[in-house]
Amino acid sequence: MTISIKINKNTQSRINLCDFNNIEFGKIFSDHMFRVDYEDGAWKTGEILPYGNINFSPALSSLHYGQAIFEGMKAFKDENGRPQLFRPLANFERFNLSAERMGMPTIPEELFMTGLSELVKMDQDWIPTKVGSALYLRPFMFATDDFVGVRPSNNYTFIIFCCPVNSYYPKPIKVKVEEKYTRAFDGMAGAAKAAGNYGISMRPTMEAKKEGFDQIIWTDGREHKYVEESGTTNLFFVMDDYTVLTPALDGNILKGVTRDSCIKLLRDANYNVEERHINIEEIATAARAGKLLDAFGTGTAALIAKIETIAYKNERFELPPAEGRKVSNWLYDTLGEIQTSKVEDKFGWITKL
Ligand code: COI
Repeated sequence: MTISIKINKNTQSRINLCDFNNIEFGKIFSDHMFRVDYEDGAWKTGEILPYGNINFSPALSSLHYGQAIFEGMKAFKDENGRPQLFRPLANFERFNLSAERMGMPTIPEELFMTGLSELVKMDQDWIPTKVGSALYLRPFMFATDDFVGVRPSNNYTFIIFCCPVNSYYPKPIKVKVEEKYTRAFDGMAGAAKAAGNYGISMRPTMEAKKEGFDQIIWTDGREHKYVEESGTTNLFFVMDDYTVLTPALDGNILKGVTRDSCIKLLRDANYNVEERHINIEEIATAARAGKLLDAFGTGTAALIAKIETIAYKNERFELPPAEGRKVSNWLYDTLGEIQTSKVEDKFGWITKL
């Protein structure tokens, strides 16, 4: 550790309250969190402290004007039980891109990485080791000015907390192509991991759930014709010649770290991956002809979420059974093996702690 942070350890661990054989995503939090405040144009000294509630004024500006961003990343254990992070610098870089887009201060790499590493080392006993599980890490930053009025806040708080998790989606998902609501438009903040981008997905997802779907597929705001991402993941489609399609990073979708990892793994295995605008009609035509072999979402939380049903206008396309899916099963297994160091880390994605 080269920068110094304060350590305030809790006196009694809560780890016995966690049933590691039965973890529900996002419901249980580890013993500590990392916090650092930004005041008067500078980051103060960071601190690891017991996980717990924080007090703020009702005028907290992020609650009113939405300057709030976050990341999702994961820690694992290697074969010898040593803690490690998967591609932390990719998340760090995206965090600062989100901060810039939202007019918030960027955080220095050393501060982010030191806080993250020391926190995960301290709470390493909370890293679950069952296949498909991990310690989910949630860095986030929000505006803390006690102020009513629309202008960037002068003060911010950055926190990282951790939750032991299993799969976000325990089974293949049913999705509906969204043609009424829009997530992002050119020039908006679609590429930022801003809290508001998730806030606006709640209503459309609620409506889709009422119709029996788990998620929506966002389409472009101009024509509702081009696939963007799902409410929780980036998207991939596998055609019958094993060409893999994924929407291009056009500024309206999130630059997913799992998305990028999948593209790199697929290209390394000689798959033809096309990053481009994907007309939903192209997917529907392939599905009608039985030429859509696989479709899945990718994300830190979801890892690989297989799609079993796609509903588009009045049609429902049922995809081939999940067990036989060559591409998504291979990506799921390979990513899991890299993350837990069961196979060689040939892309340099692992940071040992
Ligand atoms: C993640 O994949 O880490 C996200 O932030 C998405 C959310 C569904 C948890």
